[in-house]
Amino acid sequence: MTTKKIGLSLGADLCWPAFYEDIVEQLAPVVKRGNRTTTFDIERVRIEPFSLSGEGSYDVVLDRVTHWYHTSREWIKKAILVDGTYVLNNPFTLQSMEKHTSYVAMRKLGLPVPDTWMLPPKEYEPTADLQTTLEQYAEMFDLKAVGDAVGYPAYMKPFDGGAWVGVSRVENADELQTAYDGSGTRLMHLQRAVEPFDLFVRTVAIGPQVNQIRYDPGAALHDRYKIDFDFADAEDLQLLEDMVLTINTFFNWDFNSCETMRKDGVFHPIDFANPCPDSQVTSLHYHIPWLVKSKIRWSLFCAATNRKMDLNPRWEPFFKVARTDMPYRDKLAAYGDIARKRLDAERFEDFCDKHLADLDEVTLEYFGTDRARNIVRNKVAALFPAHEVEKFTEHFWGLIQFWCKTEADRLGAAT
Ligand SMILES: Nc1ncnc2c1ncn2[C@@H]1O[C@H](COP(=O)(O)OP(=O)(O)OP(=O)(O)O)[C@@H](O)[C@H]1O
Ligand SMILES: [Mg+2]
Repeated sequence: MTTKKIGLSLGADLCWPAFYEDIVEQLAPVVKRGNRTTTFDIERVRIEPFSLSGEGSYDVVLDRVTHWYHTSREWIKKAILVDGTYVLNNPFTLQSMEKHTSYVAMRKLGLPVPDTWMLPPKEYEPTADLQTTLEQYAEMFDLKAVGDAVGYPAYMKPFDGGAWVGVSRVENADELQTAYDGSGTRLMHLQRAVEPFDLFVRTVAIGPQVNQIRYDPGAALHDRYKIDFDFADAEDLQLLEDMVLTINTFFNWDFNSCETMRKDGVFHPIDFANPCPDSQVTSLHYHIPWLVKSKIRWSLFCAATNRKMDLNPRWEPFFKVARTDMPYRDKLAAYGDIARKRLDAERFEDFCDKHLADLDEVTLEYFGTDRARNIVRNKVAALFPAHEVEKFTEHFWGLIQFWCKTEADRLGAAT
């Protein structure tokens, strides 16, 4: 009998980890493969001093903080190198691959990322060699010419951004100048706007599992992810799936969300370096049970099968496809095939069918309990003013109850 230890490395996440822990406890999964029996222990990772040579004990860690909390990042890197821990997501890639790199790489694979330019920053923090460097090498440039090359409307946004900070839409050279002057020390992109668009999709993937969610960027924060079952046809959904799995596998990300906007029938990815994607009930509402289940499935699979982290990027097979003269859609399908193979998609499905067959039922029942409702309330209370807590708890809980209904129908139809 082996017990695999799964660590949750967390910051302000209050809801999904509690759901995850409760459901795994109720499911009490026991995986029997050959003559080996595996059970699982779930534990929250603590923040404390650690020796660089000290041995840790986690088999798998689901991480949500290392993109900003450096003690955890360095501990996790130690765990990978010293203990062989499998970490979702790979912290080495988060440190080196930000939005800019993802644009460059996916354009190279032929994905229709809108035309994008990078600009040197408007201002600098003083550093020792700065003046000499700029005097010798920084070219005076014509911002208007860059605006003309990109075309209007356009978005000026940080090269590594998140949470819409520093994002502005500009319609002409004057607005571009104002946005640039206000960008301070930030390194910025100027990107052609995908407008007018007729569909915005956030494609969330966890391992080989993919969920396509229609998204409305103009709605209030709690209402951006939509509940819509019929917004794209099977071909489009397949394309979006191939796209997100390509991106994730290229960068060795186990989970990520890809934002795409459709214009004239073409899906343009505009932001797909979100390897710590939105996971809160207050934004995902109806979609949170899918997220929790998918995290449970993938983390248990990784732990039980001793999945090894792919520490070195393996880009050449993708570039080999990119160099062929196949049409774009065929290339994307070929990238998708590489991705599914690396993600062990078939074996993963078999594993879930065989060892986690009760997960759907357990999850469905759990999301009808007072305990789950209290967790929703705690999250709402942490984000909303006191007088809105009841109203929004009811709102999000109601959407989860709607999920329970559609899920019961789905499970009923499958039997
Ligand atoms: N090229 C574009 N065309 C049209 N709209 C865009 C474009 N780039 C950004 N936007 C709009 O601005 C929003 C924020 O941009 P982006 O997603 O790149 O920044 P972010 O800070 O990473 O946001 P998030 O934290 O939501 O991922 C997008 O959701 C979209 O509505
Ligand atoms: Mg975004």
